[in-house]
Amino acid sequence: MRKMAIALSFLLFWTIVKHSNSNQEFDVRQHLSTVTGYGVVKDVINTSFVPSHIPDGCTPIHLNLVARHGTRSPTKKRMKELEKLASHLEELMRDTTLHNVPAWMRGWKSPWRGKSKGGELIEKGEGELYNLGIRIKEMFPSLFEGDYHPDVHTIKATQVHRASASAVAFGMGLLSGKGTLGHGRHRAFAVTSESRASDILLRFYDTCESYKAYREKEEPAVNKLKEPVLDEISSALIHRYGLNFTRQDTASLWFLCKQEASLLDIVDQACGLFTPSEVALLEWTDDLEVFILKGYGQSLNYRMGVPLLEDVLQSMEQAIKAQEEKHPPGSYEKARLRFAHAETVVPFTCLLGLFLEGSEFQKIQREQPLEIPPQPPRSRNWWGSFVAPFAGNNILILYTCPASSSTSSKYLVQVLHNEKPIPVPGCNYSDLCPFEVFKEGIVAPHLKHSYNAVCTANLERIEKKSITSKLLLPFRWLFPVSTGDTQSTKDEL
Ligand SMILES: *[C@@H]1O[C@H](CO)[C@@H](O)[C@H](O)[C@H]1NC(C)=O
Ligand SMILES: *[C@@H]1O[C@H](CO)[C@@H](O)[C@H](O)[C@H]1NC(C)=O
Ligand SMILES: *[C@@H]1O[C@H](CO)[C@@H](O)[C@H](O)[C@H]1NC(C)=O
Repeated sequence: MRKMAIALSFLLFWTIVKHSNSNQEFDVRQHLSTVTGYGVVKDVINTSFVPSHIPDGCTPIHLNLVARHGTRSPTKKRMKELEKLASHLEELMRDTTLHNVPAWMRGWKSPWRGKSKGGELIEKGEGELYNLGIRIKEMFPSLFEGDYHPDVHTIKATQVHRASASAVAFGMGLLSGKGTLGHGRHRAFAVTSESRASDILLRFYDTCESYKAYREKEEPAVNKLKEPVLDEISSALIHRYGLNFTRQDTASLWFLCKQEASLLDIVDQACGLFTPSEVALLEWTDDLEVFILKGYGQSLNYRMGVPLLEDVLQSMEQAIKAQEEKHPPGSYEKARLRFAHAETVVPFTCLLGLFLEGSEFQKIQREQPLEIPPQPPRSRNWWGSFVAPFAGNNILILYTCPASSSTSSKYLVQVLHNEKPIPVPGCNYSDLCPFEVFKEGIVAPHLKHSYNAVCTANLERIEKKSITSKLLLPFRWLFPVSTGDTQSTKDEL
């Protein structure tokens, strides 16, 4: 009874953390979809899930990490959008009495005005990855003891500066105190990258032609889906502040809110314009976009990531071989650490089947489309802020267990998302899987689809399966889909 009560109050807490409306628990910084900083979500745990106990005697022998870069500044294109917002706000305020207008808005200038370069990892982002490196070393000390060798701890990044800078920040944390350089006794380490043009392991979204075509066609439809929410909130803002905001203003103010809250910890300016339930709706439109263009909304989104999944499996099989054949320490890899983008982490998360609920896992296996995440206040499992915040990550740890242990398998795989054990539907909703189940039940079904076949498929076949084509059918019939005036987010996240 008591246990039940505790479980229920945890459940309530979880519900509050994610769905609070106007109470004091609401922290806008946790509701910024993929602009959410790692620090505000990494300690939010799903308290209705009980992680597995690692059986006694099992020891980790290999770790795979797939991480997104840390907090970064807006891209040049987005900085321009904010400059446009500044001049439009000025225009709007010229013809009004200003009595309702928030003080910050008068004479507001973009904090990024005049900058000619963007998209770089900022200090906060360095900290996210540096501390992740330190924590991972502390969580799995046996995997990181001994001398550093670049083939034992493989560090890979994409050829995009915020990802390679993230790899460097992580490596500094991981290897601090291991070398002889400077007061921090740093050690130099290797970060390798494939060429941008052919990085099918970490930048498959940029090499996969059918995906690029899908995304190009689908973006306007996604913007159309957002319009009703943006229009509703524009009306509310016009009413509240007496300024004639356009749909684009509302979209840009939400963008500004996300940047201010996440990068500058300012939550009482642009974010202060919106009520918590408006934030929840705006957050949902972003999560919807992530779902449709990067996630479960279209199987192509994650199937193109099959080379990465194969790479993970192959690294585990090599580690098992080294274990079975008793290779000497230092002669085999212990960790493969990858630093990339939301476009990498989200599809990889989908390949693992994470964040699915109810019968969705079976639907995915039968290759049936999923419903889009329901609009607030209805609850959902798919939150951009959890799936891929800045520095968001998946960690897969391979354990070897003694023959005498209670496990049915000699090798186990544990799945962590943002460092926390997470239910894996393909593993009977446990975070811990016998290696054979991981291989046959989770990886193998995806390997039926080769990267080349998926990425050269013709667009019409893919389009037929697109969610928005169904959702927008009545719209499409009435008005041919235009590009809309809402800025798309084609920049790499
Ligand atoms: C939390 O855990 C429960 C129990 O395993 C699961 O049903 C639910 O889908 C999880 N929620 C999220 C957001 O992963
Ligand atoms: C508000 O802006 C819209 C265009 O965005 C325009 O059609 C409308 O006339 C404007 N209303 C006022 C009161 O200025
Ligand atoms: C899955 O988990 C449930 C409850 O934990 C258990 O009863 C069932 O036997 C498990 N099934 C398999 C195939 O392991």
